Amino acid sequence: NLQATILQTLDKHAEIPDTREIECGGVRMAGSDEQNLVRGVLGSLASKEMIEYSQITTTSFETTPEGSGIAASGSHEYRVWAALPAKGQGEPVGVPELKKLVGDEAAKVGQGKAFKNKWIAKEGSGFVRAIESPVDETADQLRTIQTSGNLEDQSVVKDLQKRKLIQPRKHIHYSVKKGPNFATEVKELETDLTVEMLQSGAWKDASFKLYNFAAAGQPTEGGALHPLLKVREEFRNIFFEMGFTEMPTNQFVESCFWNFDAMFVPQQHPAREVQDTFYIKDPPQALEPERQYYERVRNVHEIGGYGSIGYRAPFSDTESQKLVLRTHTTSVSTAMLAKIANQPGGFKPAKMFSIDRVFRNETADATHLAEFHQVEGVVADYNITLGDLIGFMQEFYAKTGNHKLRFKPAYNPYTEPSMEVFSWHEGHKKWIEIANSGMFRPEMLEPMGLPKGVRVLGWGMSLERPTMIKYKIQDIRTLVGHKTDLAQVKVRPAVRLEKGDD
Ligand code: PHE
Repeated sequence: NLQATILQTLDKHAEIPDTREIECGGVRMAGSDEQNLVRGVLGSLASKEMIEYSQITTTSFETTPEGSGIAASGSHEYRVWAALPAKGQGEPVGVPELKKLVGDEAAKVGQGKAFKNKWIAKEGSGFVRAIESPVDETADQLRTIQTSGNLEDQSVVKDLQKRKLIQPRKHIHYSVKKGPNFATEVKELETDLTVEMLQSGAWKDASFKLYNFAAAGQPTEGGALHPLLKVREEFRNIFFEMGFTEMPTNQFVESCFWNFDAMFVPQQHPAREVQDTFYIKDPPQALEPERQYYERVRNVHEIGGYGSIGYRAPFSDTESQKLVLRTHTTSVSTAMLAKIANQPGGFKPAKMFSIDRVFRNETADATHLAEFHQVEGVVADYNITLGDLIGFMQEFYAKTGNHKLRFKPAYNPYTEPSMEVFSWHEGHKKWIEIANSGMFRPEMLEPMGLPKGVRVLGWGMSLERPTMIKYKIQDIRTLVGHKTDLAQVKVRPAVRLEKGDD
């Protein structure tokens, strides 16, 4: 109906300079709701090039609640004047009485102004009228605003606006003229060129809808990297930048020998209990490790060696051959150290890292899952000291935005000394633990055949923790697992670790 009205008006007058003038079914399209409807119709007609239109924005003014009050009952000064008796026609009115008559606010502001305007005069301790009929200019101006939306004198408009008696309002309307495809009837346009149209020749007479290049496209169905993978990339680049090589971590199932024994973790250690570790039933046991190395490991546990008295507890082959889901990536570091100890040409200093999945038999909660990722690095060289470890941690973590570190003595069966690494969190104003580290024990390194002077420093941390901090994720179960919001995974941006500790 509105569409027909617009087309017919254009047909008759060639253009519509102001769409507020349109009348449709007895209603003038003057208000903003009506103009919204008009806009919808114009958009659709313009897409068929039947019309062309442009938007016109105008400003008018309306009274604020305070302005409306003045328009209705006069300015404060007028109301003060109106409340007073004419000279000689009654008792002068004092201030307390005036407050009762016109209210505190009007009495306070209005009395001063009325006095300045010489509308009222003092008599005794009160006031009386000084003129017969004052012109209440402000109220008159506000009434004009209410009826016509503006005033001739723009300086008055500015002043009223400054006094918060009026406020501007934007209005949008349109001007319309005929387009190249103008017609009084709307023809349905084809949106697709089909095989049928080509075969029948119908395409020759068909009218096609224009492409709307301004339309937002459909989101693409491409894949997206999980936040953990984005943060992993950041860590990998830091490691590469520092000259590290990546260790092969493609083996989730590990023997107890590599996961524990070779690292000098005693067979009676609580971490080996089923409550903490996932054991594999099938196959029931691991392949045998290299015989001589295995014997040296078994000896260092049972009777000691390399200056150590060992654990002096029985060492079980069956226990050593059990298979587990690796509980840390340090099992991989251990195997790699044993490998470089015996590589052709002998040991050479090495810096190696890995970032991959580990498994622990834990009940899931907001900060723990039964599987997570470890970021781990080891550095093997002659004469490395604890000072090197501390210095190294400072350099490494500075690259991740952690510039203030503290170290706290800790315990690991395979490192001595061991240190927990804490970083100052500016946002939370507290120290948070970020890593576990230490110097690997000779009981672990020497059976591998590493030269005597070689020391190895190592550290490990979770990948989930920095990821949750970076992406402000509260519950780890929404980061990994079936509660993960895939839409979120798609839109989460890449992060840069060096941007600091937010
Ligand atoms: N394996 C340790 C952990 O799981 C991390 C670590 C690696 C500690 C290397 C010291 C040396 O927390």
